[in-house]
Amino acid sequence: MKGIILAGGNGTRLHPITIPITKQLLPVYDKPMVYYPLATLLQAGVDDILLISTKRDLPGFKALLGNGSRWGIKMRYAVQPKPEGIAQALLIAEKFMAGGPAWLILGDNIFFGYGLPDILRRIPSETRGAAVFSYYVSNPRGYGVVELSAGGLPISIEEKPASPKSNYAVTGIYYYGSDAASMVRKLKPSARGELEITDLNRMYMKQGRLLVRQLGRGVAWLDTGTPDSLASATEFVRIVESRQGLKVACIEEVAYRAGLISRSDFSKLAAAYASTPYGEYLRRMDREWR
Ligand code: TTP
Repeated sequence: MKGIILAGGNGTRLHPITIPITKQLLPVYDKPMVYYPLATLLQAGVDDILLISTKRDLPGFKALLGNGSRWGIKMRYAVQPKPEGIAQALLIAEKFMAGGPAWLILGDNIFFGYGLPDILRRIPSETRGAAVFSYYVSNPRGYGVVELSAGGLPISIEEKPASPKSNYAVTGIYYYGSDAASMVRKLKPSARGELEITDLNRMYMKQGRLLVRQLGRGVAWLDTGTPDSLASATEFVRIVESRQGLKVACIEEVAYRAGLISRSDFSKLAAAYASTPYGEYLRRMDREWR
C-alpha cells in the first residue's frame, strides 16, 4: 500500500522557530515530529512512501529517513515548490500513485489510540472513492468541518467556517482512490491561492463517494502547528511514555510489529543504535521479546 506524507508548508505560526527549518523536523518529546505520521502510515499497512516537502528541507528528511530499507519500507521524495495547498500533494504524487490508491497524511498530525490500526486497515475495502476521519473538537472553526446525517453520511463540509454546522473536524489523514489527481485537476485555487483539500473532499461527497469514519474519544488527535499545541504534544507523549515505559511511534518497533522487518532485523537495529534513551529502549524491547 502506498502513502504520502506532506511535510512542507510555511509554518508561520511557529516563527521564528521555523524560519530556518520546517516544523516536521522539530522534536516532539524524544523524536522528530515526522516519526508520528510515519508510524501511523506503517500501522495502516503502508510500505511505500512519498514524502513531499520544500526544496530547502528535503535534504534533512533524506538524512533522517533514507531510503527506508532499514525499516522494510521504500521512501521516496518529491518537492513542492510552493505551499499551494494540501490537495496539490495528489498532483505531485500522481506518478507515484501510478493509477492506484494512496493514503495521505499531514506531517504535523499525531494520532494515538486503541484500535486505530484496525480502523485504518479496513478503509480500502470500505470506500469506492475517498475516506476522511472526523473528530469531535471544542473549537471547530479552525478546521475543515463535516456535518453528518443521522446515518453517518456527510451532508456538508466547509473549510474554517465562521458558523460551524457541527463540532466534527476533519483530521489530517485521508485515503484517496486512483482518480484523485484527475479530481484535483477540476479544482480551482481558493481565495488564499491554495488547492483546498476540503474542496476535493466536497467533490467526492457530492458524488456519494466520500466515506467519513469517526475517530472516537479513545483516540487522541493532536496537531502541532502553534507553540502551545507543540508543547502540549510533547507533554502528551512524555506522559504516556513515562507512565507505560513504552514508546509512541518508535519506527523500528512499529515496523517489526507490522511485519515489515524480522525479529533478527530488529535485533541488529537495536544493537547498532547509539546509547541514547531511544537506543536503550530498542535494546530493552529486544531483550524482553526474547
Ligand atoms: P497548515 O497548518 O495549513 O500550514 P503550515 O504548516 O504551513 O502552517 P502555518 O499556517 O503556521 O503557516 O498545513 C498543514 C500541514 O500541511 C503542515 O504539515 C504543512 C503541510 N502543508 C504543505 O506541506 N504544503 C501546503 O501547501 C500546505 C497548505 C500545507
